[in-house]
Parts: sequence; C-alpha cells; structure tokens
Amino acid sequence: MDIKTIGVVGAGTMGNGIAQIAAQAGYNVVMRDIEEKIVANAIRNIDKFLAKSVEKGKITAEAKDATVSRIKGTTKMEDLKDVDYVVEAVFEDMEVKKKVFKELDALLKKDVIVATNTSSLSITEIAGTTGRPGRVVGMHFFNPAPLMKLVKVAMELSRKLGKEPIEVKIDIPCFVVNRLMMPHFIEAIQLLEQGIASAEDIDKAAKLGLNYPMGPFELMDLTGIDIAYHVAEYLHKELNKELKWVPPRLLKDMVKAGKLGRKTGAGWLGQYTDTVKK
Ligand SMILES: NC(=O)c1ccc[n+]([C@@H]2O[C@H](COP(=O)([O-])OP(=O)(O)OC[C@H]3O[C@@H](n4cnc5c(N)ncnc54)[C@H](O)[C@@H]3O)[C@@H](O)[C@H]2O)c1
Repeated sequence: MDIKTIGVVGAGTMGNGIAQIAAQAGYNVVMRDIEEKIVANAIRNIDKFLAKSVEKGKITAEAKDATVSRIKGTTKMEDLKDVDYVVEAVFEDMEVKKKVFKELDALLKKDVIVATNTSSLSITEIAGTTGRPGRVVGMHFFNPAPLMKLVKVAMELSRKLGKEPIEVKIDIPCFVVNRLMMPHFIEAIQLLEQGIASAEDIDKAAKLGLNYPMGPFELMDLTGIDIAYHVAEYLHKELNKELKWVPPRLLKDMVKAGKLGRKTGAGWLGQYTDTVKK
C-alpha cells in the first residue's frame, strides 16, 4: 500500500516526536490525543523544535512551515479513518493500548498496518484484540524521536523515516534495548541506595568509563522515571518473578512522590537535563 498519511495516536513525549519526523519525511500526519490542550502543546513543541533547526541553519523556514502544515492535530479518533498507517504512542498500559487498538481496528481500512511504540508490552497480546493480528507490528522509536536513529521492525517505513531499523526475531518482553537498559538502571539505583556513589558520580562513571553518551540517571530523567518503574515491574511479572527485575524501593518512592523526570522537571538530578530543555 502506498503510504501518504500517517496517523499518530497519543501526542505526548513520543507521539509528538513521531508526528514530527513523519511530517519531515513528507507524510501527511493526523495526530490524536484525548485533550485539546495536549494536542496544542504537542504542535507547539514541534514548532519550537523546528524553529531551533532553522536557527541552526539545518532546515529552511519554508521547510519548517511545510512540515508543520502537514500535521493535523485532533481529539477525534474518527479523523484517523482514512490514514494509511498508524503509530500508537499512548500510555504504557496494556488495557489502555488494547482499547485504542480495538477502536482503531473498527475504524481503519482493512489493510492498514497499526504499529505500537510500546517499550515493553507483548505485541502479540495487543494484536490479539484486533481482527488484523497480521497487520500489527512493534515500531519502537527512542526518545527524543526526532534525534534517535534506531527503530525496531516495520523496516521499510523506518528507513523512509530516516531511521536504522533492527529486526527483533521473537516478541519478548522489552525487546532488545530495554532488556539491556533495565539491568543498568536497576544496578545504578541500587548503588545509589547503598550509598556507594552519588547519582551525579554514577552518571559520570558511565559516561567516562563506558563511553555512554548519558548516565543512567540523566537518561531516566529524560525518558521518564515512571516508565522505568513500570517496565521493571512488567519484566518482574513476565520473567518468572526473577529477583533481578524487582523495581528498587527508591525508584518506587520517586514515582510515588511524583518526581517523574520528563513530566515534572524534578528527577534524580533534581532538574531537567540540557537535552530535555532543548
Ligand atoms: N518516554 C520514552 O522515552 C519512551 C521511549 C520509547 C517508547 N516509549 C513508549 O511510548 C509510549 C508513549 O510514551 P510517552 O513517553 O510519549 O508517554 P506520555 O505520557 O508522554 O504520552 C502518552 C499520551 O497518550 C495520550 N493518551 C492516553 N490515552 C489515549 C487515547 N485513548 N487516545 C489518544 N491518546 C491517548 C495521553 O493523553 C498522553 O498525552 C509508551 O508506550 C512508552 O512506553 C516511551
């Protein structure tokens, strides 16, 4: 099928980044969230990101305007009925995702592929709620979507969107990157809990000693402390309750206290990182 218009469901951190790269790649985009103010905020974020790219001389002002004009924001699911491909980026909650997939399945043309941006949940289980299980894929963009190169599955569209896909051969909880990342997060939090080093120094060690571009605490502040917590809980539940996946107490306390990193500005390092401010 010739893809001209891409639907994006969820206009939060990931949804607005995905809408932006799709529009920059020349696709028309219909971006849906549940509240007007979230949609307006997402469009403002995209505009701001692209205005910076104009300032830096990376794109022209005309290209920016053309990109923004290709994105239609909406709160109505029906507005997605004619799209040719959908990327779902709603909350990381199986029940919420299943509901969205059922609604989409009833609405979309029969051959439309629906991709989920889930970080951890079973794509097979999500696909099972639809009448098109063979047309549901995982397409895991990384945060911030406009900057990150790695995308899983949906190889062809990913390449057209300027990403470098890898193929995940089996639908396992958390796929590849998060399976590598979560033990790193959990271990870092345990080092902090045990008073072995400060969050700043653990980040410094990861950056200087392992050549990682960001430390684990900086990365959790950027991607969302709540997501790290839910992913650890999900892995613990799905992988035979192995102790290594138990979410650390401190992580749970941070989430309970509303210190969610990307959403509040308050996180492990007590402030947004430079990457988030950009
Ligand atoms: N934050 C990250 O770094 C990151 C990275 C990769 C993948 N993900 C995945 O992307 C997905 C979204 O994460 P996020 O960080 O953008 O979350 P977010 O909380 O910033 O955004 C989620 C958005 O979904 C909207 N939403 C909820 N129900 C909806 C519905 N029925 N229809 C339309 N919109 C609805 C919410 O209003 C919210 O704006 C999750 O599955 C997450 O695991 C996140």
